[in-house]
Amino acid sequence: MRTFVPLKQKRNMSKRYTITAALPYTNGPIHIGHLAGVYVPADIYARYLRLTGNDVLFICGSDEHGVPITIKAKKEGVTPQDIVDKYHAIIKTSFEDFGVSFDNYSRTSAKIHHDTASEFFTTLYDKGEFTEEITEQLYDEEANQFLADRFVTGTCPKCGNEEAYGDQCEKCGSSLNATDLINPKSAITGNVPTLKQTKHWFLPLDKHEDFLKEWILKGHKKDWKPNVYGQVKSWIDDGLRPRAVTRDLDWGIPVPVEGADGKVLYVWFDAPIGYISSTKEWAAREGKDWEPYWKDEDTTLVHFIGKDNIVFHCIIFPAMLKAEGSYILPENVPANEFLNLEGNKLSTSKNWAVWLPEYLEDFPGQQDVLRYALTANAPETKDNDFTWKDFQARNNNELVAIFGNFINRVVVLTNKYYNGVIPTPGEFSQVDEETLAALKAYPSVISSSIERYRFREGSQELMNLARLGNKYLADEEPWKMIKVDEARTQTIMFVALQIASGLATLCEPYLPFTSAKLKGILNISDENTWDSIATKEVLLPANHQIGKAELLFAKIEDDTIQKQLDKLIASKKANEAANKVTEPQKDTITFDDFSKLDLRVGTILEAEKMPKAKKLLVLKVDTGLDVRTIVSGIAESFTPEEVIGKRVTVLVNLAPRALRGVDSEGMILMTETAEGKLVFVNPDEKGVTNGLQIS
Ligand code: MF3
Ligand code: ZN
Repeated sequence: MRTFVPLKQKRNMSKRYTITAALPYTNGPIHIGHLAGVYVPADIYARYLRLTGNDVLFICGSDEHGVPITIKAKKEGVTPQDIVDKYHAIIKTSFEDFGVSFDNYSRTSAKIHHDTASEFFTTLYDKGEFTEEITEQLYDEEANQFLADRFVTGTCPKCGNEEAYGDQCEKCGSSLNATDLINPKSAITGNVPTLKQTKHWFLPLDKHEDFLKEWILKGHKKDWKPNVYGQVKSWIDDGLRPRAVTRDLDWGIPVPVEGADGKVLYVWFDAPIGYISSTKEWAAREGKDWEPYWKDEDTTLVHFIGKDNIVFHCIIFPAMLKAEGSYILPENVPANEFLNLEGNKLSTSKNWAVWLPEYLEDFPGQQDVLRYALTANAPETKDNDFTWKDFQARNNNELVAIFGNFINRVVVLTNKYYNGVIPTPGEFSQVDEETLAALKAYPSVISSSIERYRFREGSQELMNLARLGNKYLADEEPWKMIKVDEARTQTIMFVALQIASGLATLCEPYLPFTSAKLKGILNISDENTWDSIATKEVLLPANHQIGKAELLFAKIEDDTIQKQLDKLIASKKANEAANKVTEPQKDTITFDDFSKLDLRVGTILEAEKMPKAKKLLVLKVDTGLDVRTIVSGIAESFTPEEVIGKRVTVLVNLAPRALRGVDSEGMILMTETAEGKLVFVNPDEKGVTNGLQIS
């Protein structure tokens, strides 16, 4: 255990917090990268602050504007609203399923948001905070449309990445204007864009440079995470330029001024205002006043985001809030780095991800396992890799072997020795005293990690408390003591039960489902608070009746993990296949050429594996002419039993050839699906798509 670190601030003073988590784009479900980078740490923080008696507002919502949503809608032949309705529902359910305890989850297509964002724009407009400029923007003549943001790709002028977008380079994180791109290309038609004049409104970030410098560089922002501070500093050092906050698009919030027909607010202008509209929606529902949460200097505002959102939350949004004039600015923006999956970048479009709805299907009721594995390995200071092996190890070696094992022993023994009634302790030994003192120190230790946004460190301290319990039992051996000294056994069990009770409260931010289950087993509710663990003499009193043992965590076997790895490999293959270009047509043949082929219908009568050949089956086929031997390379897709009796198309006049010493007299026509599975020719079979070759 680390040495005790005194807290920055006395916690008996309740404080008001507004905690935001990045509004997810609504063009797909959410995956482990989102959870690890933003939502689990934000939830741990919010739950912790609530438990320590603060006034906490934790908000989020769906980010429903932006070009990727329009592109997806076009591709699927539906409206953007259809897309966002579908994914808003899926995402909202995932958050609920994983215990992400938002006080409100809104969406940017909601009226309250359109109103709030329009009003915000109008206020800045009326105050003269925008500059108006007619500039040349990229235009796709064929699609008849301006190309902003993700509608255009090209080479990043900063790092040379050839797949940079019109608003941002994902490789180096630079925020770009579409006209900055070298060799721009329309994402709609692939054409080289032309330039066309159009009017837009700009937020003159250069005008706010002094304030931003003062606020971030000279202010107290040195305690921001080095990755965040470093990025912001380099942007400011590079010099800030005016940034367009409107777009020529038809999906978004209409620009609320005269002469702006066909223009909408830039998605990164409206989305962060979504935090404010979500707050308003919550306040209206709860009968509260929203303003203190955004305007009172005593409120601490914290934005949880991923690293690709840093410039928007540390420069652009603060500049907007400052320009408006009545809002507070964030106290901290604890952005995380990225999580990779089995060595590759997580990708929605490439389907390289663990999707939350799918996880829950495969691991029902095991949300805390994922929360824990992602936290224990969180990309807090550098990009990190999620592997299924690590997930299994975190579960089996920590949650099961340490936490679960400790609780199980305590509860089973209490039931066995005392029918589940907590025994009265005798005098405490020195070890008992030390153990109880160590327990009392844990709230501060874990607090100190959480308050410094070191959630990963905090998760290990939590595990150390369970280790303390395990060690205590192993050293004191109540199962031996019960045979020689019943009174001493009572004291040991009493001490162990105090630790179990402390764990039930202290694990809540990290493992909310486990906390609830453990409290159920111990038959307690919220009689202990975070702080009372450090101060109360007794957490679980003698004579209190607890319930029966229930397993908190279950061992995850190798084959379960292998299934997940297989799933990933299959999705990689499918993706490669989907990107595989259809084979071009071969040279033209004459009818005479075709009629040389003698194709017959046949039936497979017998099949067996060719010894020592992975791919080959030796078949006996009834061709109607005869029964002949055909060697076919299908053993990786079929077992011999599966093909016996199958009706097939046979090329019977192919010159015989010897394969591994067996004469093969013909060929069975097959095709290979996108997933790499061979199938007998039958266009109606699953996975047989247009353009597949028959061979
Ligand atoms: N939708 C953005 C993303 O997923 C985040 C928006 S955060 C907000 O990267 F501040 F704009 F809301
Ligand atoms: Zn770049």
